[in-house]
Amino acid sequence: MPISEKVMLKIEQLSFSYDGLKVLWEIDLEVNEGEIVTVVGSNGAGKSTTLKNISRLLKPGSGSITFEGTDLTQLESHEVVEKGIVQVPEGRKIFSELTVMENLRMGSYIKSAKKDRARNIDWVFGLFPRLKEREKQLGGTMSGGEQQMLAIARGLMANPRLLLLDEPSLGLAPLLVRNIFDIITEINRKGVTILLVEQNVYQSLRVAHRGYVLETGRVVLAGTGEALLNEEHVKKAFLGI
Ligand SMILES: Nc1ncnc2c1ncn2[C@@H]1O[C@H](COP(=O)(O)OP(=O)(O)OP(=O)(O)O)[C@@H](O)[C@H]1O
Ligand SMILES: [Mg+2]
Repeated sequence: MPISEKVMLKIEQLSFSYDGLKVLWEIDLEVNEGEIVTVVGSNGAGKSTTLKNISRLLKPGSGSITFEGTDLTQLESHEVVEKGIVQVPEGRKIFSELTVMENLRMGSYIKSAKKDRARNIDWVFGLFPRLKEREKQLGGTMSGGEQQMLAIARGLMANPRLLLLDEPSLGLAPLLVRNIFDIITEINRKGVTILLVEQNVYQSLRVAHRGYVLETGRVVLAGTGEALLNEEHVKKAFLGI
């Protein structure tokens, strides 16, 4: 998908505390329509907290978050989904008692996605042929990697315009890691803007147009994926170079 100059998501001065303990400090972050933007950082840096503030799974924080001009901080999480923002949570939260196909159908529960259900099922089965082979299998009996694919596929069933991915590569075998980043690029080419949160700093900066480095709740570096890969600090802290 061509990147536009149009700002889709704009976060300004976002701060957030859990029970009085501040974990996000005045974060500024932008995602333009068509981009893959990544937020990288170590355990506990605040990556998931940032995504949950966008999707309104957490409230309130101070600062502003707007999506195409709409103030998200005034919305409920289901209203955020209806705007076209879909979060694939960390840790493969699929329905383990439902089959693969039932999980996918659950993903298209919102009104605007129901009509596209058949087309989206074809699309996600094309992206993840493994899911098609196992469409009748119970989600909970799928392997960890397969559940991760299912979680992403289920998110795509909701017709996202902005997809929030929380550590999609976590726990995957090296070969599958490569594969999942290729699939993220492929999803983006089909017109989905992506905000990707990852600990796999190398792979995510490699596929992202732009990135932000988060350390203990603060943005310490920002730039194109390529520029960040060449930053001395990124090399030392995350790439072991
Ligand atoms: N529900 C919670 N209650 C209290 N503190 C929390 C809660 N969730 C997260 N935290 C704390 O907030 C900080 C940021 O956590 P967060 O989950 O956003 O990090 P992360 O960057 O996603 O880390 P990881 O890579 O390990 O998933 C951490 O110090 C964490 O302990
Ligand atoms: Mg996290």
